[in-house]
Amino acid sequence: MHSPADVLFDLYSPAIDADPFPHYARLREEAPAYWSERDKHWILTRYADVSEAAQDWETFSSTQGNLIDEIPGRAGATLGSTDPPRHDRLRALAQAAFLKRNVEYLLEPIEEVADRALDRILATHTFDFVTAYSSEITVAILLKMMGLPAQDPVEIRRKVVLAISTDKSVRGRNAEQIEAFRWLARFLDEEVSKRRKAPSDDLITRLAEAEIDGERLMDREIVMTSATFVMAGIESLSSFMTMLALNLHDHPDARRRIVADPGLMGQAIDESLRFNTSAQRFKRVAGRDKVLHGKTIRAGDTVILAYGAANRDPRKFPNPDVYDIDRKSVGHLGFGGGKHFCMGSQMARFVTDVSMRRFLARVPQFRLAATKLDWISSSNFRSPVALPFELV
Ligand code: HEM
Repeated sequence: MHSPADVLFDLYSPAIDADPFPHYARLREEAPAYWSERDKHWILTRYADVSEAAQDWETFSSTQGNLIDEIPGRAGATLGSTDPPRHDRLRALAQAAFLKRNVEYLLEPIEEVADRALDRILATHTFDFVTAYSSEITVAILLKMMGLPAQDPVEIRRKVVLAISTDKSVRGRNAEQIEAFRWLARFLDEEVSKRRKAPSDDLITRLAEAEIDGERLMDREIVMTSATFVMAGIESLSSFMTMLALNLHDHPDARRRIVADPGLMGQAIDESLRFNTSAQRFKRVAGRDKVLHGKTIRAGDTVILAYGAANRDPRKFPNPDVYDIDRKSVGHLGFGGGKHFCMGSQMARFVTDVSMRRFLARVPQFRLAATKLDWISSSNFRSPVALPFELV
């Protein structure tokens, strides 16, 4: 028997990357407000607590960044690392730029990249879903949307994955991971300068030109917000598509139903966001004391909101460990909640829906070609490094 005080959740254990769910379940039941003495952070895992904390930015502040091992220079300069009123201003300006064009303009480019990728896949027997499909599409679409010059998809994804990764051995970021983000910031900085001289029809230009009541974004804010778009648009999105493909592999009945009726893809997307979102955990810092489950979270304490754990809380979702595309997974926290609710959710749903329908239309059956998956090393995100499939 373990008392709550004995419960250990080691965020830096590779076991958490591979399968956090049994660990979350213990925390949810035995220590819903869990303090890690070693890492000096609280972890919240129950749906009601995580959802309320995501809404309550005055108690759970983002000003020190939402990445658990925060990237130097990011706090205070982008959406995920500010509170109102600064966040409201940034969000309104970024949203004005981001939502100016309806996502439907991406339909043709997605179909083109997907078809080319599928031609290559069908000419082989085994393929890595990440490099051959999900990442191939998200890199191409993100570069197009931002108006960035063509990049080698494997290399840019490698850099973005490094930028969001954690070195478990040092319980934080190592020099190579920090440098990967610096490279991205330098690259975007140069692109912002180019747009100042020669505006174009792309998101970076729209960010630079967005204006509300005579206010505009500063260059550092444009670079850091663009970096958020690049990291989320390349990595969170391809990771999520990869997790959805894995779910559809593991649940052949659901896959067969979607092949017969592609209109069910939207339900599968929501269920996968609930079941295993790529964005598992985000950081907040307590802005004032808060008593939760008999424990006092003190102002200044770091608090981790485990969205992935909340999404498996049986108090909210009956039989939470069952993948069921018919469940009404309304209210899941796969895109977060409150002021920081994912700004790219509509785009993410659209790109995933179009890409996965296309995939299943031409590859209705596939089999996992590995007995064990390797997982990226990250304190926030969860995704397989590669997903080898073979055609059936
Ligand atoms: C399926 C893929 C995605 C998932 C699972 C996801 C998930 C999330 C989550 C959970 C948050 C909240 C973070 C927090 O609470 O601190 C968030 C925020 C955000 N996401 Fe996404 N995201 C995805 C794709 C995208 C895409 C494609 C974009 C844009 C290109 C994007 C842009 C953003 C931005 C800008 C924020 C910050 C919003 C704010 O703080 O106001 N995301 N995302």
